[in-house]
Amino acid sequence: MCGIFAYLNYLTPKSRLEVLDLLVTGLKRLEYRGYDSTGVAIDSPDSKNIVMVKRTGKVKVLEDAILEHFSGGEYSEPVMTHIGIAHTRWATHGVPCERNSHPHRSDEGNGFVVVHNGIITNYNDVKTFLAKRGYEFESDTDTEVFAKLVHHLWKTHPTYSFRELVEQAILQVEGAFAIAVKSKHFPGECVASRRSSPLLVGIKTKTRLATDHIPILYGKVLPRSDSTSEFMPLEEKEVEYFFASDASAVIEHTNRVIYLEDDDVAAVRDGTLSIHRLKKSLDDPHAREITTLKMEIQQIMKGNYDYFMQKEIFEQPDSVVNTMRGRVRFDGNAIVLGGIKDYIPEIKRCRRLMLIGCGTSYHSAVATRQLLEELTELPVMVELASDFLDRNTPIFRDDVCFFISQSGETADTLMALRYCKQRGALIVGITNTVGSSICRESHCGVHINAGPEIGVASTKAYTSQFISLVMFALVMSEDRLSLQQRRLEILQALSNLADQIREVLKLDSKVQELAKDLYQHKSLLIMGRGYNFATCLEGALKVKELTYMHSEGIMAGELKHGPLALVDGSMPVLMIVLRDPVYVKCMNALQQVTSRKGCPVIICEEGDEETKAFSSRHLEIPRTVDCLQGILTVIPMQLLSYHIAVLRGCDVDCPRNLAKSVTVE
Ligand code: AGP
Repeated sequence: MCGIFAYLNYLTPKSRLEVLDLLVTGLKRLEYRGYDSTGVAIDSPDSKNIVMVKRTGKVKVLEDAILEHFSGGEYSEPVMTHIGIAHTRWATHGVPCERNSHPHRSDEGNGFVVVHNGIITNYNDVKTFLAKRGYEFESDTDTEVFAKLVHHLWKTHPTYSFRELVEQAILQVEGAFAIAVKSKHFPGECVASRRSSPLLVGIKTKTRLATDHIPILYGKVLPRSDSTSEFMPLEEKEVEYFFASDASAVIEHTNRVIYLEDDDVAAVRDGTLSIHRLKKSLDDPHAREITTLKMEIQQIMKGNYDYFMQKEIFEQPDSVVNTMRGRVRFDGNAIVLGGIKDYIPEIKRCRRLMLIGCGTSYHSAVATRQLLEELTELPVMVELASDFLDRNTPIFRDDVCFFISQSGETADTLMALRYCKQRGALIVGITNTVGSSICRESHCGVHINAGPEIGVASTKAYTSQFISLVMFALVMSEDRLSLQQRRLEILQALSNLADQIREVLKLDSKVQELAKDLYQHKSLLIMGRGYNFATCLEGALKVKELTYMHSEGIMAGELKHGPLALVDGSMPVLMIVLRDPVYVKCMNALQQVTSRKGCPVIICEEGDEETKAFSSRHLEIPRTVDCLQGILTVIPMQLLSYHIAVLRGCDVDCPRNLAKSVTVE
């Protein structure tokens, strides 16, 4: 939710126009995080003031406004050191409009300007405190109080350094935040911090950095005139820093990043970066490591596709292989999950497995639950993270809790993780984002290795989460003699999966034709059961979020208990009917629908004439083992929602009201 990006060049000449270009490009990479309004702040040409431009709408609108606003030659002059901050918003407090767009300022003179991702939960108290001291507020946001609080502290503690002012402000606020602050009173400096919202610092120097670690310093109030000895100087003099909500915004500049931890305060002064914490706890490390990103710039570009989502759907033959790469040995029928192998004995002794996530990630748990029950012979509970917390669900020390999250930053999932960790459960993270909060706070885990997923609608992450959980089930059953035949059957199917996905993707034009039949309808019911129920839920979620049509995933066994009343000759219905143990029951449901004049689209197996005879509209998919069918059946649903969205003129990659990474509860 919200993307923040800040750029600081030290002794590396850049014009303000170049800085603005960098900021806008950074925002474009982060746009999937929120896209209802945007803004930037840079220094004025005389460097004595801060200039801000904000716009309602997407980054493109801001880009056009910048071109208009900063046309003067003075903006082309190179500056040795400069800081720009930028923001793309997903509204939580206050409607999307320029007044509520970030950066927010401390005063009319723009003394301090702030970009923020998260929610300051005690903003009303802070606002009342500041209002009593004469501060007037100009937005409806929670963020504005932070800028004004820093200003208030600056007035009352004139000797504090910039970093100390921000630290003191952070001590006063509650909730979740990642922030970057710029000030005209502290030119050349930038301070950033995080708590429960992601933030990283990218470092770019001409040669390799002399150190791989930035030592952590512990807060004490130092006078502003104090020397820079508290900072860890890099040997390089010329340096550029990038503060960003995620790595996709920095990868085109540098692959050297530091993932900040909660309550880290990163400050740059005189071109040197320091990381501070106010309090020291026993298990704190002495330094933050500089990590080398493995990501490639091509991975975050659209290439020849019209939309990221479309590209990500078509990447699935490769992404599923990447999930299995180095883990599944098809020749020896062996699977090793390096990230959890040391914990397998403990997991085998557990009382139950709990799979916890939100949205699509939750659906991957629904999709694999049955196989996990079968191959682990353990009770498996599947939980929506938000509901799980609402219920104060009992958790025991011998529970093993899986937290499934593409972004690794979803607030509900992260809160549920902390809840279970406090109660002594073993925490296993299943994420797609290296360095994310869920990754770092898990005891062990599996990276799904699907590659960056930019489209807000999750597609390839789902199939890779699915496969990760299947691989886990296979690991758990390695030594069960009675399950060997079943394991071999699944391994064999996994080895064919990429080719079968390619086959399913060839249905694209047929699905597009189908979309033409459906896109003007108001609703779409999607029915199935057994291993394909998760596809119904996931398909309906895709249709809702991308096309704004109503859609419902219905367990076919429940049809006669209510939803059948919706069925008539005009209600669009899609049914998944495959040759698996629930085939006969699915056929019953199909008959119940057709005998109410329903004319469903049927997803069935290639060459299944008997099933096809029930409707003129069908999509045939290759046969695979029952527990992997869900991977092949979800792809037509992804394609269908994509094509309906295009036909309805919806913004495929940025559906209204949504954002990719939901870092607020
Ligand atoms: C999927 O298309 C959605 N955009 C959404 O349901 C998403 O899966 C959910 O917010 C969870 O995100 P996570 O996997 O990053 O935790």
